[in-house]
Amino acid sequence: MEYRIKTVGVLTSGGDSPGMNAAVRAVTRAAIYNNIRVKAIYRGYKGLILGEVKEFTTQDVSNIIQRGGTIIKSARSKEFMTPEGRAQAYETIKREAIDALIVIGGNGTFAGALAFSQEYNIPVIGLPGTIDNDLWGTDMTIGYDTSLNTIMECVDKLKDTATSHERVFFVEVMGHDAGFLALNSAIAAGAEAAIIPERRTQEEQLLSYIGNGFRKSKNSSIVIVSERLEVGGAETLAQKLKEIHPEYDVRVSILGHLQRGGSPTAQDRILASRLGVAAIQALMEEQRCIMVGVKNDEIVYVPLSKAINEHKDVKHDKVAALQILAI
Ligand code: F6P
Repeated sequence: MEYRIKTVGVLTSGGDSPGMNAAVRAVTRAAIYNNIRVKAIYRGYKGLILGEVKEFTTQDVSNIIQRGGTIIKSARSKEFMTPEGRAQAYETIKREAIDALIVIGGNGTFAGALAFSQEYNIPVIGLPGTIDNDLWGTDMTIGYDTSLNTIMECVDKLKDTATSHERVFFVEVMGHDAGFLALNSAIAAGAEAAIIPERRTQEEQLLSYIGNGFRKSKNSSIVIVSERLEVGGAETLAQKLKEIHPEYDVRVSILGHLQRGGSPTAQDRILASRLGVAAIQALMEEQRCIMVGVKNDEIVYVPLSKAINEHKDVKHDKVAALQILAI
């Protein structure tokens, strides 16, 4: 007998990212187009455990493509990391007659999906939704481009005040354990340096380099710093620079959750729309435990285990370009 998915569940989980709504819209409409029912699960895995489910029509996703955040909410569920939590979640799956799940999120979301799929033999498709861009196998994640542009705009503004007061600014950005946001925003905003987890720059060397550049040719400096660095982030680096160069006027700006909000860029809306449609296609092709991503502008299917376990490195030429352009 032909196996056919009749009802798909969709959820967003982990840190929200701009474009998640566009992805929910695309999943919903592509499913309905293919005669598959859609059940939205609110608050990620937390809602799956608690049974917070609502069937979606095409109207439920009207007018959301331009909105940041996620209309179906997000959460980080500790319970779902336990077998007991997943057993409760499976009760919801049975009760709601959900045949397959599409999860939109990052590393943690995919790890949960993989465990759930293996334990309960339910088809799961992941869509990369995180500002961090740290999932292997896809060139871009949904939300990354918007966040990058937000950081660039903030740094443009900080540069105005940095130049006026002849100051050095350490700007801390998100990225979890990855430096994509820091490195690329540094290039885009014309910053002097990016301090990222992927390249363990000799800290003292870097600080004196900043100092030298500042003294020789510049009256202000911007350094973008990735969060969660072992060295302690922007505050610690600023403190150290002050010790080496007490004559400099140093300030710190931590951009925080500003980076996660806002209307998605065209790039993120298009990416989310393509991936949402492709996720339904993948389910109809009986794919399971894969992430749908994009490589060289083509849709790709990547095993979830690879997407979370393989390391995606920053491009060396970008690290080099930033250094060259900061002279
Ligand atoms: O994964 C997305 C992200 O924004 C990371 O860049 C950051 O480290 C983390 O989430 C912040 O999480 P929370 O919203 O729980 O503070």
